[in-house]
Amino acid sequence: MSDPLILLGLESSCDDTAAAVVRRLDGRSEVLSSVVIGQSGLHDAFGGVVPEIAARAHAEKLDVAVRQALAEAGLSLSDMDGVAVTAGPGLIGGVLSGVMCAKGICAATGLPLIGVNHLAGHALTPRLTDGIAYSYLMLLVSGGHCQFLIVRGPEDFSRLGGTIDDAPGEAFDKVARLLGLAQPGGPGIEAEAHGGDAKRFSLPRPLIDRDDCNLSFSGLKTAVLRTRDTLVQEFGGLTRADRADLCAGFQQAVCDVLADRMRRALRLYLGENPAQPCVAVAGGVAANMQIRARLEQVAGEAGARFVAPPLKLCTDNAAMIAHAGAELFETGLRHDMTLSARPRWPLDTTQAALVGGGRKGAKA
Ligand code: KG4
Ligand code: ZN
Repeated sequence: MSDPLILLGLESSCDDTAAAVVRRLDGRSEVLSSVVIGQSGLHDAFGGVVPEIAARAHAEKLDVAVRQALAEAGLSLSDMDGVAVTAGPGLIGGVLSGVMCAKGICAATGLPLIGVNHLAGHALTPRLTDGIAYSYLMLLVSGGHCQFLIVRGPEDFSRLGGTIDDAPGEAFDKVARLLGLAQPGGPGIEAEAHGGDAKRFSLPRPLIDRDDCNLSFSGLKTAVLRTRDTLVQEFGGLTRADRADLCAGFQQAVCDVLADRMRRALRLYLGENPAQPCVAVAGGVAANMQIRARLEQVAGEAGARFVAPPLKLCTDNAAMIAHAGAELFETGLRHDMTLSARPRWPLDTTQAALVGGGRKGAKA
């Protein structure tokens, strides 16, 4: 048995300040602690994440998160073998806060520094939670990301496609706002959709049947807006049934788009990797039971295993960064004090940049 590797991870690329301790031994990682300090209250009045406010909150809370993560793991900095930090992509002030904090810890302790791509953190999460082997197909689906990736190694990704405008979570949030539901919008829309008639309104399925794996959600969001405005014009407002039917119709349309694109991505992936039929999802939208069940069904029809990590590791956290850092550490990767914070950092540099930015800033 080899010696365990214990890494401290830091994440601050959007609106969660997170620190975690992960131990890796014989090819399996274990989360010893994972602390996430959210900022939702700070941005509520602005209808979105304000980068400068986020960056200041990260700078204030990173040391709190680190102390708490170490305490919950029952360890100190002297027990660590390295510090992994999100070095991009994301809101630059937040990423800088994390990178500066990690550099400070490494300068003071002499620990090695490992800069991690936030998207790689998400993409490698199924290896942390379920120990799945390379290669696999990954769908990142959140408020800030939406892309299909073939994951072959900690630094080996091919992007099959992604959103050309909004991320799906962003569409859930915008639709919730225009229907007067709370933020973040996903859980509220899912709850309203339960009693709704998904067939009452005819909503588009953008890009469906196109011969690639790209997605689009902004036209769907606009169609919901138009339908709402027509109802308001004709009847003076929305009834509870109108709202439920719109939510159900919207959710059904997102499901149909994701399922169609997933089918296509799986076909491409399985053509290349017939011996590894496995698909994983991560991101807040994967919490939606209808979407999750539909994607699981698509995977089943293609004969592929479906892996959906527990929600707290699907959404932004530092355990995924510590785990990805540990895999990179094992490849021999080390950074030094010249490590830069990057607002953009595509996982697959052979592909043209995606046009869509996502609510929380351009990701790749
Ligand atoms: O991964 P995440 O926590 O943060 C990033 O965006 O990076 O994802 C948050 C997004 C929000 O847009 C939220 O509305 C969406 O995930 N979400 C959901 C559900 N729960 C959260 N969308 C649909 N159905 C849900 N149950
Ligand atoms: Zn994320």
